[in-house]
Amino acid sequence: MTTIISVSNLAKTYASGFQALKGVSLDIREGEILALLGPNGAGKTTLINTICGLVTPSSGTVTVAGHDHLRDYRAARELIGLVPQELSTDMFETVWATVSFSRGLHGKKANPAFIETVLRQLSLWDKKDSKIMTLSGGMKRRVLIAKALAHEPRILFLDEPTAGVDVELRRGMWQVVRQMRDNGVTVILTTHYIEEAEEMADRIGVITNGEIIVVEEKAELMRKLGKKQLMLRLGAALAAIPDALGTYKLELDADGRALTYSYDTRADRTGITTLLNAVRDAGLQVTDIETRQSSLEDIFVDLVRQSQ
Ligand SMILES: Nc1ncnc2c1ncn2[C@@H]1O[C@H](COP(=O)(O)OP(=O)(O)OP(=O)(O)O)[C@@H](O)[C@H]1O
Ligand SMILES: [Mg+2]
Repeated sequence: MTTIISVSNLAKTYASGFQALKGVSLDIREGEILALLGPNGAGKTTLINTICGLVTPSSGTVTVAGHDHLRDYRAARELIGLVPQELSTDMFETVWATVSFSRGLHGKKANPAFIETVLRQLSLWDKKDSKIMTLSGGMKRRVLIAKALAHEPRILFLDEPTAGVDVELRRGMWQVVRQMRDNGVTVILTTHYIEEAEEMADRIGVITNGEIIVVEEKAELMRKLGKKQLMLRLGAALAAIPDALGTYKLELDADGRALTYSYDTRADRTGITTLLNAVRDAGLQVTDIETRQSSLEDIFVDLVRQSQ
């Protein structure tokens, strides 16, 4: 797989003395959707803005399709579309004018047919002559996406594209992002919605305190860190876990009617068969069995906790 962006030892200390990035290294693969997850203030926006050349790094390098983003800024920037976290655009312009202007800014020849396609994809076509100030928040965000796509970038950065966007629109947005990927665009997005990363990303990077603590294929991350739980519902309430089951890692529910067994999906043996035999031998009646896999949310909380 080809690397389209290579970030090496990137550090940023703001003028205030605050170190927002502490030596981040990351290779972004051509054609992937990479989600960056992290709590408020983790450094996600700083990382994106530094890669896009809006923030000057204190040290480290970024290459975009082989171009050094500082020495060869225009060539690198040309390949990139950015949807910033902060909504800022000319409120008095129409959708059509703003998006077309953005294409011109990047030195591309006018192409009304392309702009039309983008606006249609983002369900903004019927708003093309509306002034931006008359649009809802979710629509404004879609205008920003259209602006970022107007010059046909090969790489699209979306900094919290769905913040403040309702559930239905969010799904629509995910579809648009997937479409971009299907058109060969590499997509890097940040989000607070873990379900969003889980739903969309090919790979997930977790960033806290200016450091990337993990970057992994989504499926691999879930497999590696995922724990499964087996819940046994009991026919009769227990006051305590029977001594005979003391060697198993079990938890008893507050009402005494369910036992939960946690096991590691990586382990060769889950121990479920022996547990079930032991439960039967202890004379407990099991009325139902459920399994539950940890979600990305559990994994994320665990990772952030471990890194603090
Ligand atoms: N211009 C600046 N000057 C000084 N400190 C800054 C500046 N911009 C950001 N910071 C600090 O750097 C840290 C990282 O901020 P950043 O915006 O990158 O976080 P984030 O992960 O994008 O957070 P959020 O999820 O809230 O968007 C924060 O502590 C922030 O206060
Ligand atoms: Mg941010």
